[in-house]
Amino acid sequence: MPVSLISGGSRGLGLATVQRLLERGDQVATFSRSGSPALTSLAEQFPDRLYTGCLDASKNDKLRQFVAQVTERFGGITHCVANAAIAHEGVLATMRDDQIEEMLAVNLAGSIMLVREAVRQMLLAPAENAPSVVVVSSVVAKTGSQGLSVYAATKAGLEGFAISLARELGPRGIRVNAVAPGFLDTDLSQSLSADNRQRIIRRTALGRLGTPDDIVSAIDYLTSSRASFLTGQIIAVDGGA
Ligand SMILES: NC(=O)c1ccc[n+]([C@@H]2O[C@H](COP(=O)([O-])OP(=O)(O)OC[C@H]3O[C@@H](n4cnc5c(N)ncnc54)[C@H](OP(=O)(O)O)[C@@H]3O)[C@@H](O)[C@H]2O)c1
Repeated sequence: MPVSLISGGSRGLGLATVQRLLERGDQVATFSRSGSPALTSLAEQFPDRLYTGCLDASKNDKLRQFVAQVTERFGGITHCVANAAIAHEGVLATMRDDQIEEMLAVNLAGSIMLVREAVRQMLLAPAENAPSVVVVSSVVAKTGSQGLSVYAATKAGLEGFAISLARELGPRGIRVNAVAPGFLDTDLSQSLSADNRQRIIRRTALGRLGTPDDIVSAIDYLTSSRASFLTGQIIAVDGGA
């Protein structure tokens, strides 16, 4: 049975991914700084196949501990989805040091550290099911967005990370890809003004914001044997933004 580790599973895209991978039969581990009633209810529904923790993705020692606990509990890690992220919106000139540092620490360094810990386990105990890594980027890494320059930099960094890591791990049979969602209707995008929201919807070919489920389908595919020859790719799932 595949073991999938997903960061930021308490809400939004992370929660939807946890739910979908549980429904397809995976053993799933996830963490965030705080839990949520929805995640607690999933844990009650799948007591043997869902393992949850509360920790900050920017704390390396806690990440290491959590990955070790997951490995002990489920016997290894098959797929790793680096999803946890935060977005502080604002023009660069007035952005505070701590906001810039937090985005770099959580979105970029936190994802890299998580993937490193998971990959170490994958290399130590090769899984029966072909292992994979998915990092969650954003369409703004390529399109840019006013007020999101630092956030976009963290996502562009993750895309470069995924492409190089795919080359490094390909010979070991581990696939690495990035999913780049368009704007989604989740907590992360609640700070969008009504005008901005309408502007994004107008310029999106499919005429709406994305939902977590739209993106989960891509993650489900990338972490399955159906994507066995797909690595080093950035898959935009953005409704034609
Ligand atoms: N929403 C969008 O419009 C959009 C568009 C493109 C890409 N994305 C990307 O999609 C992914 C998911 O976004 P979302 O919209 O689902 O966001 P969300 O609803 O804000 O959820 C973010 C998740 O990450 C966790 N998290 C945040 N900071 C953390 C930290 N320091 N340590 C551990 N966990 C942390 C949150 O839990 P806690 O707060 O409890 O820690 C939560 O579970 C992110 O990578 C985001 O950049 C989102």
